[in-house]
Amino acid sequence: MQYADLLIETQGKVAVIRLNRPKAMNALNDNMMNELGDALRKFDADPAINVIVLTGSEKAFAAGADIAAMVNYSYPDTYTTDYIGRNWEHILDIRKPVIGAVAGYCLGGGCELAMMCDFLVAADSARFGQPEIKVGVTPGAGGTQRLPRAISKSKAMDMLLTTRMIDAAEAERTGLVSRVFPADKLMEEVVGIAQQIAEMPVSVAMQIKDCVNKAYDMTLTDGVRYERRYFHAGFGTPAQREGMTAFLEKRKPNFEGL
Ligand code: CAA
Repeated sequence: MQYADLLIETQGKVAVIRLNRPKAMNALNDNMMNELGDALRKFDADPAINVIVLTGSEKAFAAGADIAAMVNYSYPDTYTTDYIGRNWEHILDIRKPVIGAVAGYCLGGGCELAMMCDFLVAADSARFGQPEIKVGVTPGAGGTQRLPRAISKSKAMDMLLTTRMIDAAEAERTGLVSRVFPADKLMEEVVGIAQQIAEMPVSVAMQIKDCVNKAYDMTLTDGVRYERRYFHAGFGTPAQREGMTAFLEKRKPNFEGL
């Protein structure tokens, strides 16, 4: 796959998509978001890939939506063409796990895109922020909704209203990211995590992802019932037979293709 604003590589069953507009701190423009949607969909459909990692550069995961592209937009431009909605949220339709790996600035739309990943790991250099108010707009890709759910209303209001950035340690403490690594180890570590997940049965990983995401859309009772359907259905799958048999035979399970 060749793209103008993305770099792509695969390591075994893991695909790494790197946002790549170095001159603009990976500011997210239409072309990059179209390409990202295309790459995500292709890997989601590729039976050789089980897990996707989305990352940026050492300096920036992404410093937000492209302000140079937005500066002259009018309200009809954004409304009639559904700016953001038209190409930023393909990631939410991806069924395989997507891990975000953040180093450097992760601001505005960059932070919002990161929060659309299934979970985040960060380099100790990472800085998260929602500075949209400083450029005269509200966040537009879910920042006011996902940030309070991730880190609490108080922390989110503070970040959104003052534009204060939080560092990797605070992001981990508040639950925005799951783990923090030294910057020079970030990619090695995240690919290791992705490979660990890629060895699990991909169908079950997809079901768990689906269930966890339902936790944000359903009541607790409905969500638990939803999970239970997958659990019961699991007893008709080769992944269950292999996983439980391997445990009892004291051997490593082989979930290849399951
Ligand atoms: N859009 C377009 N270009 C951007 C950009 C952005 N979001 N962020 C950085 N750049 C560009 C700069 O204009 C600069 O380009 P030139 O070299 O051509 O001048 C280049 O990237 C390097 O940036 P700086 O010189 O500013 O680098 P710095 O180290 O001094 O500062 C920074 C880095 C703190 C990230 C700073 O660039 C910054 O504050 N960027 C804007 C952050 C922001 O406001 N993001 C929110 C955007 S609105 C949004 O995202 C809406 C939404 O919710 C969907």
